[in-house]
Amino acid sequence: MARRVIVDCDPGHDDALAILLAGRRLEVLAITTVAGNQTVEKVTTNALKVVEAAGLTAIPVARGAATPLVRPPRHAPEVHGETGLDGPELPPPRTPVADRHAVDLIVETAMREDDVTLLALGPLTNVALALRREPRLSQRLREICLMGGSTTRGNVTPAAEFNISVDPEAAHAVFTSGVPVRMVGLNVTQQVVATPERRRAVRAAGTRVAVLAADLLEFYSAAIHRLYGLPGGALHDPVAAAALIDPSLVRFAPMHVAVELHGEHTAGMTVCDDRYTRTAPDVPAARRGAPPNAEVAVAVDADRCFDLLLDVLREYP
Ligand code: RIB
Ligand code: CA
Repeated sequence: MARRVIVDCDPGHDDALAILLAGRRLEVLAITTVAGNQTVEKVTTNALKVVEAAGLTAIPVARGAATPLVRPPRHAPEVHGETGLDGPELPPPRTPVADRHAVDLIVETAMREDDVTLLALGPLTNVALALRREPRLSQRLREICLMGGSTTRGNVTPAAEFNISVDPEAAHAVFTSGVPVRMVGLNVTQQVVATPERRRAVRAAGTRVAVLAADLLEFYSAAIHRLYGLPGGALHDPVAAAALIDPSLVRFAPMHVAVELHGEHTAGMTVCDDRYTRTAPDVPAARRGAPPNAEVAVAVDADRCFDLLLDVLREYP
């Protein structure tokens, strides 16, 4: 049975690929957008463009938060361009955005439908607001599977990953909500790279949607190469989706994750602590650390992740 998900995202090139993955391998009940890679207006237009290009317009798309809970908004035009989905020319969407706010659509859907997983691929602002708007969500949601954080280094600072860094207060609310959290961080997503060889394979898949994905990967990879000299863009958000599609692709370990809110050098860091499960119960609490509040990704089969994306792209028209 395909996992039932609400995809909260900030398209963004890798978000777009995750939507394509989810559109064929998960039961997507709704797509909600949040300011992140670009403004919420732009990422909402991009989400509508993607669902239209992929023939997924039966999925409602609702616009969400324009700013983080506390901090000023930050975007990533240096990676995703001025539109947030630069590269391929996609026509302005004809599909209307849902008439409800993203937070209301998340709450209504999760209160109506059973066994819902929130697949969060951008800053966690909408997720935190939904948990505050309807506290019963913490008993209704199966889990929150989020692309964000890292057990090692960040990508916007040495310590912080973009999604957490943009809205650390929202991330703190999510990790302390009591909802089961599955964290897919940079320590695994940066291992799944859209190398030139893989980009050629995507284009060779030949479907219209595969060619669109190849065009997205070309722009995204050129930006990453320009910024960091790397061979291609990392498939951050598709890895988080893949973990729900085929649990054998990503290995997780129970850890306590705390979000740093105050550090001058470490604000937005996900402080991942696995001591509790590695030490005997009689070890003094101060040395044992806090009990786990998340399953944290620690390994990924990059080749099989990419093969899954390629298979799915071949299934689209
Ligand atoms: O740090 C990578 C994450 O930030 C991805 O979700 C990417 O789309 C951006 O939102
Ligand atoms: Ca994203």
